[in-house]
Order: sequence, then structure tokens, then C-alpha cells
Amino acid sequence: MQKHIIPAFQTIKNDEIKILDICFGLGYNTFASILHSNKKLHIISPELDLELVKNLENFKYPIEFSPLTEIIKEVSKNNFYEDERIKIEVLIGDAREYLKNCDEKFDIIYQDAFSPKNNPSLWSYEYFEDIKKVIKKDGILTTYSVASPVRYALYLLEFNLYTHDSKIIRDGTIASLSKLEFKKVDFEEKLKRITPTLYRDFTN
Ligand SMILES: C[S@@+](CC[C@H](N)C(=O)[O-])C[C@H]1O[C@@H](n2cnc3c(N)ncnc32)[C@H](O)[C@@H]1O
Repeated sequence: MQKHIIPAFQTIKNDEIKILDICFGLGYNTFASILHSNKKLHIISPELDLELVKNLENFKYPIEFSPLTEIIKEVSKNNFYEDERIKIEVLIGDAREYLKNCDEKFDIIYQDAFSPKNNPSLWSYEYFEDIKKVIKKDGILTTYSVASPVRYALYLLEFNLYTHDSKIIRDGTIASLSKLEFKKVDFEEKLKRITPTLYRDFTN
């Protein structure tokens, strides 16, 4: 809630909101967004692991998710759900491949892949180049990562960098091509002291 959902919905005020949730996993970010907002939401979420999604209907979610039981069942069965307010598409496959061919634009991107050490292809400079193509000019990207290679890639791609000004969670990173009202990360100051490495992805 603190790292992804609250800062995202604090920023995006449209009546219809398009969200890219990378990656679906247990669907916490998707389901928490639906509970938190009463806006019209279209959520697209790549996920590699079909077995995981198939098993979600038996997963014991927190009690707060009980209003979503039917939605969770349907997503688990069909990788898809739609009603008048909500559309969820779980795309089984590689998020990197999805991004390469994506022609949608998103208001909110939750960057919640496994850590850069475990899943470097979803944190590389080239990956964030693709993210830049699909985020709206005034869109927001949220992530738990504070890793220098991640922030450096976003910085080089001319994202403005912010962090969560919260006493109750560890910092993460908020990025946008527009100016936002969060605590600024002064990455230029950091660059005076160190030259971070970048995660690179040269596969095509
Ligand atoms: C940290 S979990 C995501 C948690 C999720 N955001 C949530 O709210 O429950 C990471 C997920 O990424 C998936 N994954 C790993 N590599 C991937 C890739 N290249 N493309 C799509 N999904 C991937 C894993 O199967 C795992 O479910």
C-alpha cells in the first residue's frame, strides 16, 4: 500500500486509469488497487508462471480481500476479469517480451519484479527504455528498489526521481517524466561521488 498503491493514486486523478502491474505474482498490487480506488481501472499484468495463477483461487488471502473472492476466482481460472468498473488481463509470458511489442500507454506502472540480483533483465537500462515508451508523460512508476543501477538507468532516461517520505516504511523509488510532489532523490549529487554500474540487456 505504502510503496505502490497510495503514491500512485495520490498522483493519478483521471476517472479512467490504466495500470501495468509487473509482475502479477499473487496479485496483491492489482487487488489492493481495486479495493483502494473507486475509479474505472484497466490493469494489465504480465506473469511467467501459469501454475501460480491457476492456484490462486485456493490461496488464503488476507481478510481485507474477501470482497474480491469472485474476481480472484475468475482471474485464477481465465487470467481475465471484466465488469463495468474493472478489467484485469493477466498475460502469461515474459514481461520483457510484452514491453517490446506493447503499443499501450499507462498512467501507473508498478515495478514489482523479483530483485535486480535475481531478475536482472527486468531492471536493465534497456528494459527501462521500453518502460519509457509505455508510460504516459504524467504517469508514475513505483518500485521498492533503491538500487543505484536502477536509479541510474531511470536518471539517464530523464525520469525525475523521488522517494516515499514515510516514517513507517523503508524508502523505495518513485519515477515520472513529469514533476511530482514527493521527496526528491538528488541523484546528481550522488554522481559526484560514484559512477554506478548499470544492468544491461543485450538480448536483441
Ligand atoms: C515479486 S513477485 C510479484 C509480486 C506481485 N506484484 C504481487 O503483488 O503479488 C515476482 C513475480 O514475477 C514473476 N516473473 C519473474 N520473471 C518474470 C518475467 N520475465 N516476466 C513475467 N513475470 C516474471 C514470478 O513468477 C513472480 O510471480
